Amino acid sequence: MRKKIIAGNWKMFKDLRETEDLVRGLTSRLTFDLKGNQVIICPPFTSLALASKLIEGKPVELGAQNMHPEDEGAFTGEVSPNMLKSVGCSYVILGHSERRQYFGETNESINKKAKKAIASGLTPIVCVGELLEEREKGITEQVVGTQVRGCLKDVPEAEVERLILAYEPVWAIGTGKTATPQQAQAVHQFIRKTLGQLYNWTVAEKVVIQYGGSVKPENAAELLKQPDIDGALVGGACLKPDSFVAIIQSCL
Ligand code: 13P
Repeated sequence: MRKKIIAGNWKMFKDLRETEDLVRGLTSRLTFDLKGNQVIICPPFTSLALASKLIEGKPVELGAQNMHPEDEGAFTGEVSPNMLKSVGCSYVILGHSERRQYFGETNESINKKAKKAIASGLTPIVCVGELLEEREKGITEQVVGTQVRGCLKDVPEAEVERLILAYEPVWAIGTGKTATPQQAQAVHQFIRKTLGQLYNWTVAEKVVIQYGGSVKPENAAELLKQPDIDGALVGGACLKPDSFVAIIQSCL
């Protein structure tokens, strides 16, 4: 059975003092057995070093929210995969809809970053998801299928199971409108079918597909019960230890 991976995307929240409070609040509550499931936090770049220290010896792993696809160079304001690794990251969120919307990221640029992340030993969490108008037009599968194929282009079969996919319907992000467990399951199943076509069923069965979009303690259990939902990418509700831990507990 696939393990569940619960990741918290802090977005552009929490300065250093707040980071310390949030990480300590989280680790002090994680005293129960995770039963093989995983917890990841993805703070802003400025908090990674501190968070990395605070989670030492705790059942929490570290991820970043973006990276540049080159090792180094004259790219003002950017951060490389090796820099992320050196600060203790094992994961990196790529292609979040906010990056697509506000920073011009495309399936092509996300694909480049995903391949570089894998080559650098980081696990990418590649985000896909349709806009409300796309869902209303009935083209969700077309949009998500194109995103999955584009973001995974030339990622070899041997490496694709090292990658995590996150289905985040854009209309459900930060809106309080969650996809119903059935709506989410249908798209997750479609993504797994797409992976089966791109690679094969053995590989498709291994890839972790997270759901993201207004995941809260009240709806997490129902979503995580779905056969193709293997975890959650949590925004707002990961910013408070109690709600994030309640979401983590709902997959046990
Ligand atoms: P919310 O949980 O705040 O809707 O955000 C979801 C998200 O974008 C996680 O990456």
